[in-house]
Amino acid sequence: MSVLSLKNVTKRFGGLTAVDNVSFDIEQGEIFGLIGPNGAGKTTIFNLITSIYSITEGQVYFCDQKLERLKPFEIANMGITRTFQNIRLFKKLTAYDNVLTACHKSADYSIFSSIIRWFGKFKIQEKNLNKKTDELLKLMGLWEYRDIVASNLPYGLQRKLEIARALALDPKLLLLDEPAAGMNPEETMQLMELIREIREKFDLTVLIIEHHMDLIMGVCDRIFVLNFGIPLALGTPKEIQEDKKVIEAYLGKEEKNYAECQ
Ligand SMILES: Nc1ncnc2c1ncn2[C@@H]1O[C@H](COP(=O)(O)OP(=O)(O)O)[C@@H](O)[C@H]1O
Ligand SMILES: [Mg+2]
Repeated sequence: MSVLSLKNVTKRFGGLTAVDNVSFDIEQGEIFGLIGPNGAGKTTIFNLITSIYSITEGQVYFCDQKLERLKPFEIANMGITRTFQNIRLFKKLTAYDNVLTACHKSADYSIFSSIIRWFGKFKIQEKNLNKKTDELLKLMGLWEYRDIVASNLPYGLQRKLEIARALALDPKLLLLDEPAAGMNPEETMQLMELIREIREKFDLTVLIIEHHMDLIMGVCDRIFVLNFGIPLALGTPKEIQEDKKVIEAYLGKEEKNYAECQ
């Protein structure tokens, strides 16, 4: 079964077609790459999936359910969470509290549970949320930074903290928008291992946008290439690396694109 299906999705901003008739299916457990030059429409696709933008034409399905007229928080509750190209953390909160607040969002706070909190359940739930926060921070290599305010963390660690927050919401599908931006080559390779590890541990499907080709080629099962909003290619990392159209439009200019992103 496909976890995510885009069927003939188009997004126009006035006269600009940012995403032009895009279709792809992502299978359960896949790590699926979305690449292309700056302005190709990659982040717009994330914004369409997460209902930040409305779709002009076409449909998006999540586990065979059509996503329409939903609010971004409803999409998150269904099991799609994301990180942002422009990091969106609670800058004044510690790393710990950034993750803990996300864990709270995923907790069960029905009226019934608020009433019985007086009988002890609330305390147990708090303890569980703290435990989950501890585990996520340790997994992401952030434990030693837990008391540091998010805005004081180096860029690479802020990106990892965003992933920890996204995981705290218990996603089935995780969308990562340039998670390695601002990381050095060693951190980037560690991130690649981490993405594999979280896929296994949380039984996730991952959709990832990245300009670091070592990471994309090393971690993805399949890759979709966009150019000016138009689908250019879909294939395994090997097929994409050898695709003449992709080399011409993007890979041959990789260094230039990468430099533009810094
Ligand atoms: N809210 C918006 N209003 C108008 N144009 C937009 C908006 N968001 C994105 N765009 C345009 O859509 C195109 C694709 O942008 P984007 O999806 O951010 O590209 P990428 O993530 O591949 O670099 C760009 O030309 C961008 O300027
Ligand atoms: Mg983008």
